[in-house]
Amino acid sequence: MYCIKNITNDFIWVGANDRRLAMFEGVYSVPGGVSYNSYLLKDEKTVLFDTVDKAVRHRFLENVVSALDGRQLDYLIVQHMEPDHSSALEDILTRYPKAKLVCNSKTLAFIKQFTELETDALIVKENDTLNTGRHTLHFVMAPMVHWPEVMVTYDSTDKILFSADAFGTFGALNGALFADEVDFDKDYMDEARRYYTNIVGKYGTQVQSLLNKAGALEIRMICPLHGFVWRKNLSAIISKYVLWSAYQPEEDGVVIAYASVYGNTENAAEILACRLREKNIKTVMFDVSVTPASEIIAAAFRWSHLVFASTTYNAGIFISMEELINDLVSHNIQNRTAAIIENGSWAATSGGLIREKLGKCKNINIIEQTLSIKSSVKKSQLQELEAVAAAIAGTIKDSFPQPVRNNGKSKEGGNASVDPNVMFKLSYGLFVLTAKDGSKDNGCITNTAMQITVSPLRIAIAVNKANFTHDMIIKTGLFNLSILKESAPFSIFEQFGFHSGRDTDKFSNSKYEDRAVNGIRYVPEYTNSVICAKVCESYDYGTHTVFIADVTQSFMLSSEPSVTYQYYFANIKPKPQPQQEGKKGFVCKICGYVYEGASLPEDYICPLCKHGATDFEKQ
Ligand code: FEO
Repeated sequence: MYCIKNITNDFIWVGANDRRLAMFEGVYSVPGGVSYNSYLLKDEKTVLFDTVDKAVRHRFLENVVSALDGRQLDYLIVQHMEPDHSSALEDILTRYPKAKLVCNSKTLAFIKQFTELETDALIVKENDTLNTGRHTLHFVMAPMVHWPEVMVTYDSTDKILFSADAFGTFGALNGALFADEVDFDKDYMDEARRYYTNIVGKYGTQVQSLLNKAGALEIRMICPLHGFVWRKNLSAIISKYVLWSAYQPEEDGVVIAYASVYGNTENAAEILACRLREKNIKTVMFDVSVTPASEIIAAAFRWSHLVFASTTYNAGIFISMEELINDLVSHNIQNRTAAIIENGSWAATSGGLIREKLGKCKNINIIEQTLSIKSSVKKSQLQELEAVAAAIAGTIKDSFPQPVRNNGKSKEGGNASVDPNVMFKLSYGLFVLTAKDGSKDNGCITNTAMQITVSPLRIAIAVNKANFTHDMIIKTGLFNLSILKESAPFSIFEQFGFHSGRDTDKFSNSKYEDRAVNGIRYVPEYTNSVICAKVCESYDYGTHTVFIADVTQSFMLSSEPSVTYQYYFANIKPKPQPQQEGKKGFVCKICGYVYEGASLPEDYICPLCKHGATDFEKQ
């Protein structure tokens, strides 16, 4: 018996549901079933929009025959030739041989590939129209949403968009047809997200192109090929598509996906989740060996942060984790912050390999510190887990709970702690500090400079005593600060930061020889302004000397923003590289540089990123 529903006076839903399908497209579980939607327009002419999957074609044919109520079918529009919407094409054309196919040229090619049909078609292209009496149908091409031939149709009379796969949802229609008949947000949004991300998630650019075209239309109703019809609050689903297609997260929160053979990697993931929750950060956790990848991919599109915790397996990433990451990369995941935990009882490699794979994605900010555990988490590593949680929290607004207040009274023996990551929140700039002693010019990179008074105009700088520039300032009392701008390349940091002026001419590769009135060189390239100063006081602070200095000259060179310490880390400093195969020795945990040798000198400084020996680990 037919089962049809009216949508408007002229449109009827003639689709059908399938709750027996084990795997949609052979890949995605659909525990709530799936609907195959088809729509019939009864105007002066009759028009059918797409057909259905073979699993439900008998019910569908009953529906079409019933809805036509004895009339002939004039047109069959094929918006999408994927077989879940076209398997009943031949049935319909056999039952209604005078019906004219309406499709684009790509679709016709697919029809010939999938079927033996020898039929003419009315070929349409962008902005072509079909008048059926009271209604005018406009054809809008939507290639790659989800296949190359996809087009959508806009009825300018009733303002309905027949959107093909766009705005679809997994899940059978359980008696309801309209999204406003159910609690969509609570009961179906997760499935709408899972449907979008897995079916068309890869094609964000093409979805945005369709959204732009749709934005120019007055749309009162959306009729997709799967799931509910939208007639109210259309912005609820459109706003999600805007975010998903731009690969922007819906909410701040952390997806923790872990692969654990004996529960020890899971343990690290659990501890991290606890530390994150203590910082008011939402977390969702998935065992990648248990949860289908489609659910984790959907979660990755929803939340802002991703943590991958994987054991090492056959010298690589654990199988199910590797599949998940490959899937995420192929779905074009981007604009996320990620952290990595690796486990390995004798040679942990999974972290570096995960980092390498994520490196193929656009705008994935990988937290520098990879937590590496050997077999199981040890008490000594809890601080490292806390540091990873703190680093994640540092990238999430409002993540830290308010400090406990005690009405201004100090609490003796209180639980005061120092989080070193807080120091990265200070809005440091980055500068080339230059000095001159006799004929010797020199310079170094510093991030510690600030104005302290206006009248007189004074600044303070703190300079490491190990720098040759420090000794020159002690001797001459004069220096210049070139304030670096955001376009400063990493090479400028290499030039002034990675060598000692004691045995190198830091200006040997400079194109310019500009000097300020005090005779000291400054760096005109990649600099937005220069401050020249004369020391009036200095203070010895162990490793550093703090110089207080009067400003003697200052001038602007560019209006470009100054580079901040945070900007440098996010945009200029090279990202850590996976460990270099074949090299043995000590590897820098920050940038992956390998020091080859049996022992690492205590005062060794990484030539790439300038971190010290404590940031190296034995390979
Ligand atoms: Fe529901 Fe792309 O087919």
